[in-house]
Order: sequence, then C-alpha cells, then structure tokens
Amino acid sequence: MHIATSREPLATQKVDAVIVAATENFANELVEVDKLLGGHLVPLLEKRKFKGGVGSSQRVPTYGKLAASELIIVGAGERSDADLARAARHAGRTARSAGFASVALALGKVDQPQLTLENFVAGNYAYDKYKPEDGTTKPLENLVFIGGAPEEVIASAGIRARWQSFARDLVNAPAADLYPETLANKAKELECIEGVTVELWDFERCKAEGCVGIVAVGQGSDRPGYQIHVRYRHPDAKGHIALVGKGVTFDAGGLSIKPSPFMQTMRCDMGGSATVLAAIGAAAEAQLPLNIDCIIGAVENMLGGNAFKLGDILRYNNGVTVEIHNTDAEGRLVLADCLIKASNVEGVTDIIDAATLTGAAAIAVGPDYAALFTKDDALAGELLQAADAEAEYLWRLPLHQPYIQQLKGKWGSIKNLGGREGGATTAALFLQHFVDGPRWAHLDIAGSAFHEADHADYAAGATGEMVRTLVHFLESRAKGA
Ligand code: BES
Ligand code: ZN
Ligand code: ZN
Repeated sequence: MHIATSREPLATQKVDAVIVAATENFANELVEVDKLLGGHLVPLLEKRKFKGGVGSSQRVPTYGKLAASELIIVGAGERSDADLARAARHAGRTARSAGFASVALALGKVDQPQLTLENFVAGNYAYDKYKPEDGTTKPLENLVFIGGAPEEVIASAGIRARWQSFARDLVNAPAADLYPETLANKAKELECIEGVTVELWDFERCKAEGCVGIVAVGQGSDRPGYQIHVRYRHPDAKGHIALVGKGVTFDAGGLSIKPSPFMQTMRCDMGGSATVLAAIGAAAEAQLPLNIDCIIGAVENMLGGNAFKLGDILRYNNGVTVEIHNTDAEGRLVLADCLIKASNVEGVTDIIDAATLTGAAAIAVGPDYAALFTKDDALAGELLQAADAEAEYLWRLPLHQPYIQQLKGKWGSIKNLGGREGGATTAALFLQHFVDGPRWAHLDIAGSAFHEADHADYAAGATGEMVRTLVHFLESRAKGA
C-alpha cells in the first residue's frame, strides 16, 4: 500500500472513496461536506440514526458532487487517540470489503497519525490467498492521508503495519503449508536484515540438547520439530530482551485428542511464535539500538504411533521433572525448553513470551483481549502502557502463587495440568518454573490471536494483535525508557 499525504480539498481527491470521521456532533463537524452534497448528508445520517460510535459507518454515494464516487462516514467515538485508531481500523476494513483501490482518509485533527495509519492498514488486511477469483477483495493500493504526516512517521507506521501483516499471514496459513520446517525457513529469511542471525536446531539436535518438551510433543508427528533462535545485535544496544513464542503449527491435542470443532482453528496455535518473530523483525528493520533473542519451539501436536503418552515424565535441562497428565496441555511443555534457553542467554534482563496457551484465558478476557501475567509491576506497567498506546487490548490477570499447589506432581516435580479453576494462571505458573534470573512476563493470546468469524475491526482469521504492542515496548526500551 502506498501512503501519501495531501492538503488538497476533499472535493477534488481523485480516489474511489473519501472517508471522513465524525462524532455524535456530526451536524456541526460535517458542515463543509454537507454543503458539497447539497445539504443532503446531515439529514441522511440523522435518518439512518448515525450516532458516531466507533465501529459504525455509513456509505453515501456522491453523485458527481465530489471527485470520489463514495463518501464514507466512520464513527469517531470521543475522538480520543484510541477511538480514532479504531475508527481508522474500521475504515480500512470497510475499504477492503468494498474493494476500493484508493481512498482519501480525513479523520480531522489527529494527534497520533502513526497510530491511525497502522490501524488503517491492519483493518485493510484480509487473507484471501485461497479464495476463488470472484470471492477476493483487493487490498488498497493508494492511501491519501488528509492533513499530512512527516515522512518518518509514515515510514515507521509502514514497518509496524507490515510486520503485523507478516504475523497474520503466518497464522492464517493452513497447517499443510506452515509446519515446523517451513516456519523455521520463514525465520531464516530474517537473516537478510542487518544485525540478524538465525540458528535452527533440527529434531535430532533438539534431542541431543535435551529439549525434552519439543521432542515429546513433536515425536507424534511425521513433520519433525525445530527450535528456532533468532538473534538481533546492535552495536549501541541500550538493553537486552528475550522473546519466546509458542510455535505449535497444529494442535490436534495429541492422544488427549481435541473434539473436531475445537480442532478446526488449531493452525492458529503458532500465533505466539508469529507475534515474536514479527516483533524482532520490526525491531531489526527499524535498527533499534537493542539486543534481542527470539526463541521459538516449533512442533506439530499429533497422534502418530510414537506420540508421547499420559504418565510419561520429562526431565528438563534445569532439573525440573514433569508428569504428563494431558497431552493437549502441550504449549507449556514446548515453551519450557525455550524459557530455560532464554534464561541462559548472557545479558538478558527481561523475557516476554507469547502463546495461544489456554482456552481458559480466552474465556476469562474474551476475544478482544490478550491476558498478561507477571510478578513484576513495573514490567506489567510498561506492557500495558505499550498496548494502550497502540490501541490494542491487554489485561493483567493474577499470577497467584498459592495456585502452584495445583501443579504438584506425584512422581515428578510438577504435572502439566492444574485443576479446572484458574486454568490460565496455573499454565502461567507452570512456565514460571523454567525462568531463572531475568524479569519475565507472559502473554496468553489464545482469545485475541485468531477469530473464526469476521470481527468489527478485523477480517476473519489472525489478528496480529500484540505485534505492535511488543514493538512499542521494544522502542521504549531502545530509548532507554
Ligand atoms: N492450543 C490450546 C489453547 C487454545 C484454545 C488456543 C483455544 C486457542 C484457542 C492449548 O494447547 C490447549 O489445548 N489447552 C488446553 C489446556 C488444558 C488441557 C489444561 C485448554 O485450554 O483446554
Ligand atoms: Zn493443546
Ligand atoms: Zn496448543
């Protein structure tokens, strides 16, 4: 998508549609456009009961009164930065469904042009690679941003937006196309960015190195698992962060097999790995002065003849032993190897992991939110602030230590399953056993990573939420904040 800015009047913008944001107070805000349309616009919006709510919009034909053939009014809510961002996302989404190739976006006074641009692009995304020709909608080619924004703001918005789309493409890809080896190859491609090196451990190497979680979960599949380690180094690094991602490219549940309806969307189970790969990709492309290590456990959780079994006991490299009580609680097993490794990287002060870890997190916070777990209030504050600044949804849930007793093992140190209550917390507490040293935060993105149906803000499928939050967090760290 090419983004240009313009100060030309709306009437002469030669685009498929002009998109204008308005609040409840639209009668006053739209005086100029209303005049251009012969005074018909405001009465029409009143008749259609437009209230300016975020996520609402009205399409109006212009009958030659403007150079653009359509005018779209999108609700601006309270005109807060977050409301304008969501209005922009909705505008992008509307432009995509309408099949527009070019759009002029006039949101009025915008304090955060970068945020609105990123959100417009996020809204404009759809995955229709496999749709029949007549079912596809074209992505926008040209966006004219009315009001203007500095070049570097547009460039930086472009980076974040592109990496968010990168994550969504990976998550949306069917498991037949995206499996551990192809995910590893995707990661390898990041080596073309300055400062990035990628080390792949194939399944044999994982066995040799004692990555028992990756091996146990991966051994039931014909497609061998990998551990992926992407390093980004900058000569003037202001900090050193590790990102860890769950890369279960398909989660059938293993022998604790999932019922078919729950399995339908389980290609999304590598959402955490896509999120952290995109975040390091964006940070490297922007050449942020940071060192970043991104570690991913990539496996398929299948039921082949060699599948791991209930009652198996895994002995991890940090000495913790884990009894298997449910092979569908596999994400934590795979992440454990990666968290141990991240804890051992010299110089790392903070580890952030992202994972579609538990249905319980999705039940707790619903489809819009990711859940945050950490003991560290300052780190929680930074991540929540980053999410806010990116108009993404993140909510902190308790990493309540007493629930650790739910994980107590009979034969080993712990088991991979807690009780029925507080399932997202017990999963997070499981992970805690494998972090040693750095500060640590866990993002359970099971609810927000993927939506089976269309959503007001996002096309059906992967959302790429938390990519921009992580990039924002990394940018703040790079500024030494
Ligand atoms: N991949 C799932 C979690 C998930 C659920 C992701 C819904 C996205 C949407 C995970 O591996 C899983 O199966 N978790 C189990 C854990 C249980 C067996 C303790 C769950 O949430 O039911
Ligand atoms: Zn599972
Ligand atoms: Zn899973």
